[in-house]
Amino acid sequence: ALISLRQMLDHAAEHGYGVPAFNVNNLEQMRAIMLAADQTDSPVIVQASAGARKYAGAPFLRHLILAAIEEFPHIPVVMHQDHGTSMAVCQRSIQLGFSSVMMDGSLGEDGKTPMDYDYNVAVTKSVVDIAHACGVSVEGELGCLGSLETGTAGEEDGIGAEGVLTHDQMLTDPDEAFEFVKATGVDALAIACGTSHGAYKFSRPPTGDILAIDRIKAIHAKIPNTHLVMHGSSSVPQEWLKVINEFGGDIPETYGVPVEQILEGIKHGVRKVNIDTDLRLASTGAVRRFLAQHPAEFDPRKFLQASTKAMTEICVARYEAFGCAGNA
Ligand code: G3H
Ligand code: 13P
Ligand code: NA
Ligand code: ZN
Repeated sequence: ALISLRQMLDHAAEHGYGVPAFNVNNLEQMRAIMLAADQTDSPVIVQASAGARKYAGAPFLRHLILAAIEEFPHIPVVMHQDHGTSMAVCQRSIQLGFSSVMMDGSLGEDGKTPMDYDYNVAVTKSVVDIAHACGVSVEGELGCLGSLETGTAGEEDGIGAEGVLTHDQMLTDPDEAFEFVKATGVDALAIACGTSHGAYKFSRPPTGDILAIDRIKAIHAKIPNTHLVMHGSSSVPQEWLKVINEFGGDIPETYGVPVEQILEGIKHGVRKVNIDTDLRLASTGAVRRFLAQHPAEFDPRKFLQASTKAMTEICVARYEAFGCAGNA
């Protein structure tokens, strides 16, 4: 059944678990997420980005998610719009039947220019006003995501601030978070705590606290009733990088956020954990390996089945690790 983000995350907060929010662009991703949720009895957040709408088109995305709900009626599903860059984008998603929208007012409508606090408050507040009138939840964002190691937003295309960020921009301020939530009434807040989008988060194997865990604690203490969201939470599985490079790929050495660090976040108020890159890597690795090992095969269903299986395994692992399993 379709439920709102607020409903799902209130339950997660009460029981101390986190919910992975997987990006969806196509049938295989959608099925992998639902098969894994079914297998582990987990609630589901699927999110569609502007890039997803460009790739699949809004009607296909919408019906993909509705089909998932029809096929798995016992699983609660949040249909979330990822990184909305304007009031108009959010309004359209609400009209399409999304049960949750993100208004990312930390960046301008180009998804790249860092914006000031007052703009962010104003645009987020207007989205909350219309969304809440429709029973739709809202996620805001305060602070610009960036790797504390590199000082950059990470991603080349898509959503991410351009250029080198100051340390201040890269960590959400707890007092400002309090004011922001009071002024906007958001249900969930994406915070900057050392993660960045894409596959290139860290250039060396991460050890110890590579995220600003104390900052997460301080923010949670200020806004205990607002669910924290961690974007850029892919772990960049080294085993899939190896498979990709073994079968014709060429991806340089790179590291993601260790699952143990995400669990530290979940202990301190992180409830929604955004993951896209990990499924991309698993899918690409599985397809490369399948085609290399079956050079005469040309039925796309064969290599897409390998892709679905690889993505399902990642989803199962995250549902189990985040304590989400058994909570559908
Ligand atoms: O926020 C970034 C997500 O990974 C979506 O990426 O804009 O390429 O669809 P995308
Ligand atoms: P990753 O690139 O780490 O998977 O993050 C995805 C994300 O934050 C989508 O909003
Ligand atoms: Na989002
Ligand atoms: Zn994101």
